[in-house]
Amino acid sequence: MPFVSDDLYNEICMANDIVDYASSFLSLKKSGRSYMACCPFHNEKTPSFHIDRDKQLFHCFGCGASGNFVQLVMRLESLDYRDAIRLLAERANITIPESGIRQSSELSKKKDEIYEMNRIAARYFYDCLMKQGVGDKARAYFAGRKLSRETIIKFGLGYAPDEFDALVRYLTEKGYKSEDMVEAGLAIKTKNGKFMDKFRDRVMFPIINVRGKVIGFGGRIMAEKTTPDGRKLAKYLNTAETIVFDKGSNLFALNLAKSSNAPDLILCEGYMDVISVHQAGIKNCVATLGTAITDMQAKLMLRYGREILICYDMDEAGTKAALRAIDIIAAAGGKSRIIRISGAKDPDEYIRKYGVSGFKKAIEKALPSTEFRLSLVKGKYNIADTDGKIRFVEEAAEILAGLDDPVEVEAYIKRTSADTGISAQSIFGKYTEIRNSARRRAPVRTKEDFKKREINLINREKPPEKRVTSAVLEAEKRLFSIIARSRRLCIKAFEIISPDDFSNDTYKLLAKRIKEYADSGKNIDESLILNEFSGDAAAENMAAAVFFNTEEYSDDTKTLYDLIYTIKNNKLKARMNAASELKEISEIMKEQEKLEQDRKQWGKGSQA
Ligand code: GTP
Ligand code: MN
Repeated sequence: MPFVSDDLYNEICMANDIVDYASSFLSLKKSGRSYMACCPFHNEKTPSFHIDRDKQLFHCFGCGASGNFVQLVMRLESLDYRDAIRLLAERANITIPESGIRQSSELSKKKDEIYEMNRIAARYFYDCLMKQGVGDKARAYFAGRKLSRETIIKFGLGYAPDEFDALVRYLTEKGYKSEDMVEAGLAIKTKNGKFMDKFRDRVMFPIINVRGKVIGFGGRIMAEKTTPDGRKLAKYLNTAETIVFDKGSNLFALNLAKSSNAPDLILCEGYMDVISVHQAGIKNCVATLGTAITDMQAKLMLRYGREILICYDMDEAGTKAALRAIDIIAAAGGKSRIIRISGAKDPDEYIRKYGVSGFKKAIEKALPSTEFRLSLVKGKYNIADTDGKIRFVEEAAEILAGLDDPVEVEAYIKRTSADTGISAQSIFGKYTEIRNSARRRAPVRTKEDFKKREINLINREKPPEKRVTSAVLEAEKRLFSIIARSRRLCIKAFEIISPDDFSNDTYKLLAKRIKEYADSGKNIDESLILNEFSGDAAAENMAAAVFFNTEEYSDDTKTLYDLIYTIKNNKLKARMNAASELKEISEIMKEQEKLEQDRKQWGKGSQA
């Protein structure tokens, strides 16, 4: 798994500093030895996300998200382990020497191969676009859409020729296997076993991630076209899911938008919209990849923009999509505004009609999401009419009940009151009523819920005799907090317990590593240990949380032995509860007796 040496890994982490890095995403406050912020991985109002600068680890005491520096980068930037390390290395101007790179896993090799194949394909599409003859139609298409050559180059746009297998043949020449082209989403295997280009006769939009890797493509037809059997061709064709392409967690043009200095991020619906906006000199603009916005995308955007300015089509579908986006962004803990582009069907057309200055004005006039929602509701009713007024106030109160900021609520209540002539007090009454019933309906997730989920995860697919109770898990956590901090007590603990006695694979491996450090006499390197869990978020969380256990412990062996006893005893109890045969029961009883006997001996004699 590791792909740089331990020393280089530590050098890269140290040169960056987790607090420094995280402060570009979060507003961190120092508190004692750690730094705190509202957790980027779940919604909360009071900070429970901690960063330990000395250990270079993070932990959320609310949702349990936890890990080392690189794992934080992986999650915040949606990167895999190796790209996260590369990003940190670049950030600190450290070059990773080829010789320092160890054998990588099969999966990451495969991913690298697809990135490379995509890069070559993008280059090929670009060359086809620029080639006299082949690319004439496509160049004319882009010219018709007013795209400059500079824009075409900046976005790496291209053209997939109108041939059965032009790209397949090109990639074959470069030494790629047809099956791998299918896996990259570039080719399709036909019924009679031939390999065909996935994109044919389409202008091509490469989709590039924040690390600059081509992860997939969107391809657009240039004119309406029907297949021989009479079906209409879809306007856009996107790469299907591959091991490097997940539509729900990437954004078009984020690679460009992330380095714009604008405080906010503009979200459009279409690739062409984004390209037009960029061409107009506004660089903080992205789009989803042909699907509705997901929670992941909202979080990703909020890392790069203070607020999200939604710029969707003004038709019914666009408005619906905007309302949905407002909700998803709010659920991700962010604010949004709506850019209204009246007089044109989409931002692309708007810019062509009203120019850059017109679009900039529309940005300035973007409505806060609440105001936008209220205006939509208001538009539905005739406010001059009493009945209309009542219905408007009811729906408005419903919207306000979903807000968290009391100042915002008050401001909009006053506004609604002024609009309708109904007293602020009555509107507030309605608001409170809805809010109270909503609170009963939707329980907030508590720390206990996250804990339950952890236990369920551990017990999943386990036979009854191996299931763990929260008492055991708590005892194990406390035991870890001792053995991770005291080498002396660690050695004592492993005289009477083995790593395999722990309740789950994560803890078993963790115990094994901590024991190895203790045996070798070296200081524990938490961050390095945690790298072994990279890629499995649940395991990362559980393992890293262990090093955040701040519980006081007495430096005596009694606590240690009590905890070990609890763990062993509970394991026997679980087995006993599941046992049905007499023989088994008597065996367990014997083991229980032995445990009681042993316990009296712990810490005595040679072990003292
Ligand atoms: P133009 O029509 O060229 O202006 O492109 P656009 O980017 O403005 O497209 P539009 O607003 O119609 O659609 C928004 C986005 O939805 C596009 O960028 C695509 O990602 C996606 N989309 C549109 N049509 C299709 C389709 O037929 N199939 C798929 N898979 N996605 C589509
Ligand atoms: Mn369009």
